Amino acid sequence: MEGWKRTHHLGELRIEDNEKTVTLMGWVHRRRDHGGLVFLDLRDREGITQVVFYPDLSNEAHELAHQVRSEFVVALKGIVTPRPEETANKDLATGEIEVRATDLKILSRAKTTPFQIADESEVGEDLRLRYRYLDLRRPELQDNLRVRHAATSSIRRFLDGEGFWDIETPVLTRSTPEGARDFLVPSRLSSGEFYALPQSPQLFKQLLMVSGIDRYYQIVKCFRDEDLRADRQPEFTQVDLEMSFVEQDDIIEIMERMVSTLFAEVKGSSLVTPFPRITYADAMARYGCDAPDTRFGLELADVTEGMAGSDFKVFAKVASSGGAVKGINAKTAGEKLSRKEIDDLAGFVAPFGAKGLAWIRIQPDGEWQSPIAKFLGDEARKAIVEALAPAPGDILFFVADTLSVTNFALSKLRVHLAKRLGLVDDSVWSFCWVTDFPLVEWDEEEKRYFALHHPFTSPRAEDLNLLKEDPSRVLATAYDLVLNGTEVGGGSIRIHDSEVQQKVFEMLGIEEEEAMEKFGFLLEGLSFGAPPHGGIAFGLDRLCMFLTGTSAIRDVIAFPKTQRGTCLMTDAPSKVDEKQLRELGIRLRQSAKQGGN
Ligand code: AMO
Ligand code: AMP
Repeated sequence: MEGWKRTHHLGELRIEDNEKTVTLMGWVHRRRDHGGLVFLDLRDREGITQVVFYPDLSNEAHELAHQVRSEFVVALKGIVTPRPEETANKDLATGEIEVRATDLKILSRAKTTPFQIADESEVGEDLRLRYRYLDLRRPELQDNLRVRHAATSSIRRFLDGEGFWDIETPVLTRSTPEGARDFLVPSRLSSGEFYALPQSPQLFKQLLMVSGIDRYYQIVKCFRDEDLRADRQPEFTQVDLEMSFVEQDDIIEIMERMVSTLFAEVKGSSLVTPFPRITYADAMARYGCDAPDTRFGLELADVTEGMAGSDFKVFAKVASSGGAVKGINAKTAGEKLSRKEIDDLAGFVAPFGAKGLAWIRIQPDGEWQSPIAKFLGDEARKAIVEALAPAPGDILFFVADTLSVTNFALSKLRVHLAKRLGLVDDSVWSFCWVTDFPLVEWDEEEKRYFALHHPFTSPRAEDLNLLKEDPSRVLATAYDLVLNGTEVGGGSIRIHDSEVQQKVFEMLGIEEEEAMEKFGFLLEGLSFGAPPHGGIAFGLDRLCMFLTGTSAIRDVIAFPKTQRGTCLMTDAPSKVDEKQLRELGIRLRQSAKQGGN
């Protein structure tokens, strides 16, 4: 390849480069062979440049160009020339020029690809994942990776500037208490024992604070064996950090600056800080969930009290037996939703546990049109008017059930209605902090409390005395960052006092022995002089979904897993040799051999 040094990327040449002799390299995106003239669109990650082969400029190059096919890798020399005006391409950065080739080398031939890279038509996702490296040749996915890179470098720059040290923590470790199932790795040297892949670096980062590192961060892979959804992967990336000698407000303040810098640098958006804050209790009351989409209203209102005496038996029963009746006022929906659509909404809420969806349409004359109107007495009507302020043209929707089912179903309905009614502005970044989470949650099945965040989260100082008598009322110094209804980050101030930690374990029903066995190293660490500390972790993949505008987490990960946790390209997970298993002291059960559980 002597004398063949690439001079330009393929998105770079402009009219100002007229008459330059250039050497280009890249993939053949498209080839148009007109016999006399051959056109190649040459592609690399920076763009596309059109190349033309004239027989009279170089017969040899022209001949070779006939052999070239899509996705061949070629090198060529040529002269930059303006395109004739009528063939200029305004959609292409290089669209005003073409390169007239004087020399061509085929660097690598390509078999026919299983799908066209240049063709934008939809290709089945399985095929794309099987040939992920080909799919990654497409500009849209390359742009996502470019954005992801821009995001991580912005975050690193910011945190470096704030005195955070990037420190790696082990991947082969032991179970961390983040609440999902662990991925286990069998040990050969300690037969019968297992490492766990970290669900997060939580315990290590706390110990780094004990070591006096003061400010730590890491952009780090975390592993959770949980059921996958559109915004979840079994291995995902956290922007994980921890700080010493800080309180909740310090962490929130610095994170708002980090996120604002990120959105400014990557998207050119200027975010308004401070972000609004809402307590967990308020979020549940007004939105029915702890990750509210605050781009639109449609807030939930509680009408339970007015319903106890109503003649609508379902509402009356729920109201008088500790349940909740809540409603949403879909303002001006009257003219947008047909009767059939309204009825179908009952089907929408059913999968979320709601046994029905009552509705009232306010007619232009103010009359309430509703299957349940005749059962609503003065008291019930008054409660509804006070809570939902209905006006002509509105439709009110109600669910009556346990508080959690009512909230869950209405929180889903709220978002569904907002989309249907065109209330969701996709160009808006609506951030909010959700604070004051309960420390624990009662698990009815196991009849015990579980930590809502993790067992190292500090109770609020003013709630310490409630730990024994009424754990469910203890609030935590924990905070989540929510963006347009998605939890993008979460963290807390940690317990740095071993005595408090002991009390929390007691309350969670974690015996001393169990605590010592599981996280004795952390407890011991905390007993040797731990600074007050706290931190947070962001889901980098989720942030990148927003930055790129995609709704699938796979689109922002170079080599993602399917919904079933498999990699179609490498065919992982896969069976292993009997010999490998023997070395690990593992024998498979019959059902596992057959691919069962
Ligand atoms: P948490 O469990 O809330 O906190 O996780 C932090 C953030 O990570 C993202 N996330 C995920 N993203 C993609 N796929 C997943 N399966 C997945 N699970 C979580 C979310 C979430 O907000 N150690 C604590 C942090 C701390 O307290 O400092 C932790 O891991 O965006
Ligand atoms: P029914 O008396 O079961 O025909 O219900 C009358 C209306 O109340 C229908 O629109 C139902 O969808 C609705 N409904 C029934 N159960 C509930 C419930 N638990 N919460 C809200 N609406 C309900």
